[in-house]
Amino acid sequence: MATSQLPPFPSMAVLLFGFGFVFLMPVFVAGVTRHYTFHIMYRNVTRLCHTRTILSVNGQFPGPRLVAREGDRVIVKVVNKVSNNVSIHWHGVRQLTSGWADGPAYITQCPIQTGQSYTYNFTITGQRGTLLWHAHISWLRSTIYGPIIILPKRNQSYPFQKPHKEIPIIFGEWFNVDPEAVIQQALQTGGGPNVSDAYTINGLPGPLYNCSSKDTYKLKVKPGKSYLLRLINAALNDELFFSIANHTVTVVEADAVYVKPFDTDQLLIAPGQTTNVLLRTKPYLPNATFFMEARAYFSGIGSFDNTTTAAILQYNNHSSSSSKLPVLRPTLPPINATGFVANFTSKFRSLNSVKYPANVPIFIDRKFFFTAGLGSNPCPKNTTCQGPNGTKFSASINNVSFVMPSTAILQAHFFGQNNGVYTTDFPVNPPLPFNYTGTPPNNTNVSNGTKTVVLGFNTTVELVMQDTSILGAESHPLHLHGFNFFIVGQGFGNYDPNNDPKNFNLVDPVERNTAGVPAGGWIAIRFLADNPGVWFMHCHLDLHTSWGLRMAWIVLDGPQPNQKLPPPPSDLPKC
Ligand code: C2O
Repeated sequence: MATSQLPPFPSMAVLLFGFGFVFLMPVFVAGVTRHYTFHIMYRNVTRLCHTRTILSVNGQFPGPRLVAREGDRVIVKVVNKVSNNVSIHWHGVRQLTSGWADGPAYITQCPIQTGQSYTYNFTITGQRGTLLWHAHISWLRSTIYGPIIILPKRNQSYPFQKPHKEIPIIFGEWFNVDPEAVIQQALQTGGGPNVSDAYTINGLPGPLYNCSSKDTYKLKVKPGKSYLLRLINAALNDELFFSIANHTVTVVEADAVYVKPFDTDQLLIAPGQTTNVLLRTKPYLPNATFFMEARAYFSGIGSFDNTTTAAILQYNNHSSSSSKLPVLRPTLPPINATGFVANFTSKFRSLNSVKYPANVPIFIDRKFFFTAGLGSNPCPKNTTCQGPNGTKFSASINNVSFVMPSTAILQAHFFGQNNGVYTTDFPVNPPLPFNYTGTPPNNTNVSNGTKTVVLGFNTTVELVMQDTSILGAESHPLHLHGFNFFIVGQGFGNYDPNNDPKNFNLVDPVERNTAGVPAGGWIAIRFLADNPGVWFMHCHLDLHTSWGLRMAWIVLDGPQPNQKLPPPPSDLPKC
């Protein structure tokens, strides 16, 4: 009988196993560094027969595509060649321990002044899909915006069929006049601002506007192929419905996170949101022409741009016949289709696969209940105001209309030199509870301040955002910098803290950076505060941001070296 004997160390088996192990391990592919230079410069653009000098990046409108793979480092030198102060935000990029590169003016940096430059330096970690970059000061993002395309790592593929082509579709809003004058006048008079003159698809309004048919985006496709449309809403003040005539698309990703695929004919996309959809073209359709259209979803009161932008989906002409088929137009939901919006947003679910798990915080350290909505500020003495009942329009979270400081909060925080730049007493709950979606209170005045919330490192946070009907119920696309959050619940009416949490989805809720607080309803989100820095949170309708619907979270350093915010780069702009 052979006795088993331990072979001399190291055993052949161990060696073989060791080799096999090395061989079978996926080869680690380090990201590369991608360099860009963004010159902020003037450019003349004509739309709707109006020529305007706009601010652009490198003379391009919409701006250049920023392309990177997951894991890459991105270095963008921004050079300001215009008279406005500027800053650029990489919307949705998590900026793990790179908060100095986030970009919102007076939150993480002072703006870049005329003739100055600043180099943004960040690594894209754990994200893949589509995001956007845009100016983050006043209303400059009306023309300073462009796509961020994050490809999977080199050795990885999509969790869906590889598309034949990938096409960014970026929605915008065109003003015949200078948008800076529009918001300045609105803030001065206290009234609602003039609305935009057109929506655009890849910078072009399309044939449904006067003097615009030559400014139409055309997407030429081949039959029987699949196209990945990278949809981005960069519009200033409007959530948009989008549809392609006679085509169904499959939603596969939202805010650079994969979702469980679902089919739809009509979409809603809020400013700041991005979503990838697969478009499968039909088998054989010579000369066929379909419209893709977008127009506003508007739930509030007052005026808005109710026009429609259109682009053309054109099948390649393979036959010699020149017979023109009629152009087919899509059906979009009604302007105020809040029911459609609730139903559509509830279809988004995290992929939640082994490879892409949904790490929903289950045990919550801190709970917050914030109201979000419009209100008013008293009219200064001896002036007349054009807001509600002679007041000035304002907007607030928990009745605080956030006042922009004159120096960056992150700098003041990092160097421990607050000196009254901000306070840390942002209310955890509404100061005066009321029937948020019922009859509004008599006094609609808001308070003003630069208030923040301080969170310890790795705090798990649950935040319920409740819309108020003070000046009309209205949807607010809420954007959080520095984090993705999970949308664990949403509903209409007032949030019920005793019963609504029973229905929270803690298994596969969608993970996003921007989500609509439903008109006359609430949304519950959860996130892990694992990123030290100062993180802006605001309504992504720029008008509401300007009116004060914004606040900031301060997340403290963690104990480990890689959990601390490093000192700022030496070229950080000064105020
Ligand atoms: Cu896309 Cu603070 O913004």
